[in-house]
Formats: sequence, C-alpha cells, structure tokens
Amino acid sequence: MMLNEAIRKRASVREFNGDMPSDDEISQIIDAAYLAPLTMTSKNSHISVISDKELLKELDECGFKKFGKILNVETSLYNAPVLILISGKIIDTPPLGWGVDAEVFNRNLFWTMGSVVQNMHLSAVALGLAACPINTVVIGLHDRPELMKRAGVPDGYLPLCSLAVGKTEYKYSEKKINAENFSISYLKG
Ligand SMILES: Cc1cc2nc3c(=O)[nH]c(=O)nc-3n(C[C@H](O)[C@H](O)[C@H](O)COP(=O)(O)O)c2cc1C
Repeated sequence: MMLNEAIRKRASVREFNGDMPSDDEISQIIDAAYLAPLTMTSKNSHISVISDKELLKELDECGFKKFGKILNVETSLYNAPVLILISGKIIDTPPLGWGVDAEVFNRNLFWTMGSVVQNMHLSAVALGLAACPINTVVIGLHDRPELMKRAGVPDGYLPLCSLAVGKTEYKYSEKKINAENFSISYLKG
C-alpha cells in the first residue's frame, strides 16, 4: 500500500481477531517509530512491546477501571495481542542556555509522540493489521507505579502514548474527508 493510500484508509480499528502479528510485522512498525522526527528530550524515549498475556490483561483492567464506565466500554485493549507503549521523560528544569521554560520541551515531546504513533499506525495499516491508539491504559498507568515498572517503563519516565496492534479481518477502505474539525486560513501574498 502506498503512503497516500494508507493515510486515506487509516482508521482506529479495534476488531482484533486474537492472532499475533509476525516478528517481521512488529519490527516494521517499530522501524516506523524509529523513522519519526525526533528532537530534544524525545531522543531519550523508551518503547515497550508488550505481548505477555497476563500483563496485557492487567493493563486492560487498569485502563478499564479508570475509564470503562465513562466510555461505556467493556475493555480498554479490545483483546489486542500486542500493546506498544512509549514512555519518556517529562522535565522540570530546562537544559541550560535555551531561555525557554521546561514546558516548551515537554510540549515538543508530546508533539513528537504524535508523529511516532502516527508513523506506527500508518505502518500497521499498510501491513493490513488492526491498530488503535490507546490513551486509557496510558493514563491509568500514571496511578500505578508498580504496574508501570512491569510494563517496562524506566525509572523517572512516564507512559506517554500507546498503540494496540494485531491481526484482523477488517478491510480498509478510503474514508470520506471531514473538514469540519478545522478552520483554515490561506495567507497568500
Ligand atoms: C491521543 C489519542 C488517544 C486515543 N485513545 C483511545 C483509547 O484509549 N481507546 C480507544 O478505543 N480509542 C482511542 N483513540 C482512537 C480515537 O477514538 C479515534 O482516533 C477517533 O475516534 C477517530 O477515529 P479514527 O482514528 O478511526 O479516524 C485515541 C486517539 C487518539 C488520537
């Protein structure tokens, strides 16, 4: 699948059939993360590729406990066989010499994570896999330092974003473009 086709067909697909993607498929998705534009503090990020069934169950429950009711869902991971969790370092003190607040670095980190997840998501779509960004588990983990540790998050890091990935019977098709969520200005000279 070409890139523009993957962009037009990308969707958050939660219909996981339970089958595990191949090592090569996972490796291609991880390469897509490595190829994302990284800058400043995002260069110290950590990727956990989680396929341990017991751990996934605990992570699913962790997200569900916090958001299941409000989102009216039965599960937070939808039986996905793999969760790719990315953690990074939020800083309180900016590196010397930049003359900007730590918050500016942290905003750059979140911006970068968007690119990382999107690269991985598009890669998964191009491979015909189901993939869905998952925030519920990321936020749920913030209250669970011990589970965070078991999910591979290094000391001093926080979970920032995640993508659930797995095989699917879902057939991607081009989506209708919806421009309603943006206002737009063309500033032509
Ligand atoms: C930052 C972010 C976090 C998300 N977290 C979740 C989540 O926790 N659970 C879920 O089912 N979908 C999650 N989604 C998927 C959104 O529901 C989905 O992107 C949105 O409904 C638009 O649908 P589309 O991705 O198919 O275009 C998340 C999406 C984004 C961008």
